[in-house]
Amino acid sequence: GIEVTKLLATTGMVTLDPGFVNTAACSSEITYIDGDAGILRYRGYPIEQLAEKSSFLEVSYLLIHGELPTDTQLREFTQQITRHTLLDEDLKRFFDGFPRDAHPMPVLSSAVSALSTFYQDNLNPFDEPNVHLSTIRLLAKVPTLAAYAYKKSVGQPLLYPDNSLNYVENFLRLCFGLPAEPYEIDPEVAKALDMLFTLHADHEQNCSTSTVRVVGSSEANLFASISAGIMALFGPLHGGANAAVLDMLEDIRDQGGDVNAYVNRVKNKEPGVKLMGFGHRVYKNYDPRARIVKATADQLLTKLAPNDHLLELATQLEEVALHDDYFISRKLYPNVDFYTGLIYRAMGFPTKMFTVLFAIGRLPGWIAHYREMIHDPATKIARPRQVYTGPAERDFLEIEKR
Ligand code: ACO
Repeated sequence: GIEVTKLLATTGMVTLDPGFVNTAACSSEITYIDGDAGILRYRGYPIEQLAEKSSFLEVSYLLIHGELPTDTQLREFTQQITRHTLLDEDLKRFFDGFPRDAHPMPVLSSAVSALSTFYQDNLNPFDEPNVHLSTIRLLAKVPTLAAYAYKKSVGQPLLYPDNSLNYVENFLRLCFGLPAEPYEIDPEVAKALDMLFTLHADHEQNCSTSTVRVVGSSEANLFASISAGIMALFGPLHGGANAAVLDMLEDIRDQGGDVNAYVNRVKNKEPGVKLMGFGHRVYKNYDPRARIVKATADQLLTKLAPNDHLLELATQLEEVALHDDYFISRKLYPNVDFYTGLIYRAMGFPTKMFTVLFAIGRLPGWIAHYREMIHDPATKIARPRQVYTGPAERDFLEIEKR
């Protein structure tokens, strides 16, 4: 590989690969995907086993440090994160500066970006103690920031974290608790959200993770790189798909619930009409995460939202698509986001928060990739080439002659 790269560099040849469909930008030991077989493993462990037996913080440790933690290591890691959940009081005032109806994704990205103004020790971004501290601060503070973005959007007071609760319980209380009112945590909801975070924790070189690596490759600090990753996740073709699925299901319901009519619009390629939550750049088979999410949706929605017809509509849509030649021939299957929105909604989150939940889940993956990148001797600043197709040289024309 190195020889070919050198040859190409010296002869000036470049490959043109829009969307990097066939171009690897790095080597990585973190996550393995076999898109044809529908396999996903973090550090070698199958996603199905992690979803069933592990927890989000344990998986975060695994992704970031490469091995499952011992009991002591997990306790220390959890304690460190728990100690850093508070925000500087000045940072809390940022939330007053955004419009009340601001989307929480740019609010979250801005707040994460602002962390590098509060923790300027991070100006030596690649120093190991700084990277470690920034890692802990991000894992601890992003749920607090996310919950504050939500609280602002509903006009409710911001609560302080309750460090007697676990990671997900604390986040749920910060979102849905009120001052002076006890907040009762539903353990089934907390467990399901922890599992959904686990399923989202990494997915190798997706758009937002690549963004984190690209930004970090210029030696930008971890906060700046993650802030950029959050914005890459915002788009509806990536993390924004979980919200777009719900909008799509509500539209279908409001127009009489005819899934076949919607599928026909998709097949006719009406502008802007896609089967959101379907298709994936890498999976050409059922996304293994979608299978797990679907089972959780079935269980949880029966309990939390027994009269929600959207799950029924989603199931019908999937059935129709899985038997339709358009989707079969293009190998389009449900991805992780097809069913997550229904669960988030049943938990009480508004649609705008869905992609924020994805960001909390993806955070350890972004951090793991940033850290892998800065330790990889092969890392160079990301700087793709282009194939120029503009005009050949021509002489400047005075304005009155144009
Ligand atoms: N609905 C209808 N048709 C689709 C869909 C879809 N969801 N996805 C792909 N196709 C079609 C394309 O129109 C194209 O058809 P054509 O060959 O007739 O032109 C063919 O399938 C191949 O699709 P591409 O767009 O080339 O595939 P690509 O790998 O570039 O895109 C993507 C992948 C962006 C995920 C796409 O499938 C999509 O837009 N899906 C909907 C949005 C979504 O759910 N995104 C979440 C992805 S997972 C994640 O980020 C967590």
